[in-house]
Amino acid sequence: MIRHQEVDCDTDMWIAETIRETRRRRKAMKGRIALVATMGALHEGHQSLIDTAKRVADHILVSIFVNPSQFGPNEDYEKYPRPLEDDLEMCRRAGVEGVLCPDADQIYPPGQIASEVTVPELAKVLEGEYRPHHFAGVCRVVLKLLNIFQPHLTCFGQKDFQQMRVVESLVRDLNLPVEVVECPTVREPDGLAVSSRNKYLSGPLRPKALGLYKALVQATMLIEQDAETDPRVVERSMAHVMQSHQVQVDYAVVRHPAILAPLDCIEPRVTGGIVALVAGRVGHVRLIDNMLIGCLPQK
Ligand code: PAJ
Repeated sequence: MIRHQEVDCDTDMWIAETIRETRRRRKAMKGRIALVATMGALHEGHQSLIDTAKRVADHILVSIFVNPSQFGPNEDYEKYPRPLEDDLEMCRRAGVEGVLCPDADQIYPPGQIASEVTVPELAKVLEGEYRPHHFAGVCRVVLKLLNIFQPHLTCFGQKDFQQMRVVESLVRDLNLPVEVVECPTVREPDGLAVSSRNKYLSGPLRPKALGLYKALVQATMLIEQDAETDPRVVERSMAHVMQSHQVQVDYAVVRHPAILAPLDCIEPRVTGGIVALVAGRVGHVRLIDNMLIGCLPQK
């Protein structure tokens, strides 16, 4: 089923629903190509990835695909927002050259025996504990998208810090010929990280959600101003801030910024910075956020 005209005019953005069409378009492109992989419901966070890509590549391609294999059985796959026309309009305005928006059968053909990707150790902690198959699904789709688009570089947001590290590991471990560009988290003016799930934060939930950001600010102050070196002190304090905003804490931790390993002692100079990561539920909405602390260049 073709929902959109696959336009031929050079100046207009092309929209493909099939892998075959995407490959045909890709083959015709010269210069450095960047892929911004998304699940749609595009917002300022995605826009910033596109803007970064524009600075470092000649052509920007976007995928819009709500990937079923990264959602657990009780998660929001069916309810995930899919405002496709608005998303395409945003891509057009942002100067994107082409978009792949396939349906699930295009990416996962029915009856096809599926190869899986073994996830690295760092995918098994934190989000991996709360969402056991999540990163296997992310790795599987990201590997497919990178093979379909064959971009020179691909932009990932620090907002999903563990995902970014997992994708970097996938690229490194499997020798994928692509550069992962890390993009900073875009926040609302009060600090809440922009997310597609923020639209579920109606009425009283919205101020509670700020508890995640405030916990990260608290960790930064303890480490940078008070020179606190005990991870347990910082983590207890972060959890306390979240709880005081009535956030149900899944985790509130400080970790090594490259491998996400727990720390015996907080020494940003030794580890090249610290990452504080939080996850929690505000009403029925699950949110994650993180902050790099005491970092020189990232990684
Ligand atoms: P999605 O949640 O749509 O996010 C797509 C990209 O946008 C990710 O790299 C994410 O980190 C980035 N992003 C989201 N919110 C951001 C913010 N506030 N600031 C900066 N970047 C932000 O992440 C996924 O989709 C999927 O897991 C995907 C990688 C597409 C695989 O299905």
